[in-house]
Amino acid sequence: MRFDTVIRNGTVVTASDTFVSDVGIRDGRIVALAADLTEADEVIDATGLFVLPGGIDSHVHLDQPSGDGIVMADDFDSGTRSAAIGGNSTVLAFCMQEKGQSLREALKIYHAKADGKCHVDVSFHLVITDPTAEVLGQELPALVEDGYTSLKVFMTYEGLRLRDDEILATLDTARRTGALVMVHCENEDAIRYLIGRHEEEGKLAPKYHATTRPVAAEREATHRALSLAEIVDVPIVIVHVSNREAMEEIRRARQRGQKIAGETCPQYLMLTADDLDLEGLDGAKFVCSPPPRDKVSQDACWEGIEQGVFDLFSSDHCPFRFDDPEGKLNEKGKRHFRWIPNGIPGVATRLPILFSEGVMKGRIDINRFVAVTSTNHAKLYGMYPQKGTIAIGSDADIALWDPQERVTLTNEILQHGADYTPYEGQDIQGWPVRLLVRGQTIMERGSVVEAGQGQYQSRKRSNLIADTNSGASVRP
Ligand code: URP
Ligand code: ZN
Ligand code: ZN
Repeated sequence: MRFDTVIRNGTVVTASDTFVSDVGIRDGRIVALAADLTEADEVIDATGLFVLPGGIDSHVHLDQPSGDGIVMADDFDSGTRSAAIGGNSTVLAFCMQEKGQSLREALKIYHAKADGKCHVDVSFHLVITDPTAEVLGQELPALVEDGYTSLKVFMTYEGLRLRDDEILATLDTARRTGALVMVHCENEDAIRYLIGRHEEEGKLAPKYHATTRPVAAEREATHRALSLAEIVDVPIVIVHVSNREAMEEIRRARQRGQKIAGETCPQYLMLTADDLDLEGLDGAKFVCSPPPRDKVSQDACWEGIEQGVFDLFSSDHCPFRFDDPEGKLNEKGKRHFRWIPNGIPGVATRLPILFSEGVMKGRIDINRFVAVTSTNHAKLYGMYPQKGTIAIGSDADIALWDPQERVTLTNEILQHGADYTPYEGQDIQGWPVRLLVRGQTIMERGSVVEAGQGQYQSRKRSNLIADTNSGASVRP
């Protein structure tokens, strides 16, 4: 058999297995896993390297409108470039519905933003901010059929949050159509109350972003979201979990028999609220929601990854420039934390951080690394086994990792649009040295070598939906 490309002598890793094998690729797909594959136009020597499924980052914000005068630091060009540098072959970005806008209109805008500009494959989650009868009754069912099979709803942020009755209606549509709903769990009314108290006390510095969004606001909303999902009888994903109490809500819901997926992110392993309390306004660099907590919460999130409470490790890449009037230090943001745009960059650092801190330090094995950074994302968001694994017939989305490569993180190497990384100076062991997307080398040794090759991915329904027995699970 002749191949377009053969990857030779590498150690192939999937979510379940580790084995030495050559990988034969033809027409963008993996067509052979065997020893001594030689007949190829291109032979890549992977001696000493891990051959992993390309990372799938299912929580990425790119080119989203972010409030008056605020501009997100990455569009689909720079954001997917940075994703490739960090070993990702697919990103799932958000398509944000504006109030009063139809979902089709929103999708037209986001496709125009993305088409032809992406360096890795891309797909959209639909953010539902205006769940009218028409959106839920007509548009959404048709869009799910068209391959837009996941949604996000917010319980916080003025202008984005849904009321409980709106969440119930959205969950009900998801149940009927087979869509998977991601929920941002923080109690907006509690946060607004605390912001009011902070204002009365003149507490306006960046560090107060964290004290106005306490664990209790996240835990309560997590519990409520899980309860609403139980009542409707539909699986959901609890995204960006920052602490043990919210995590235990997921564990308990699963024990009650609910189908739930949980996600955590690098910031909840690596940062704390103390990072928001730096000299001057530097703390603004770390403002994101939920906020980073403390060392005990970091340990809890590690436990959740190790024990399988979290299925997903995503970046929640939501980049803003720091020293910029359109970014973190906009005029109002300099004076009051509530105007600092929420979010931090991280699409390039997600995988190296977990590889270095998790695999190299012995907290998780490399199969778990593959599961939480790629395979589970593909399964949960309807792309498996086309993506997320190394198997005959799968897309040849492959990252070659050198476990010996040592890198000190600096902003320059990440090639995103932000003017900082929260992880500046962090020492990393293990780095993605080459990335193939559908068989084509896209990134090699820190440079994108083939630009604009990313394709839009229509998706199937989630395995969490397909696996769900639709018998009633609502308890009296
Ligand atoms: O602070 C964050 N996480 N910004 C991104 C938007 C979101 O809530 O995911
Ligand atoms: Zn969110
Ligand atoms: Zn997010």
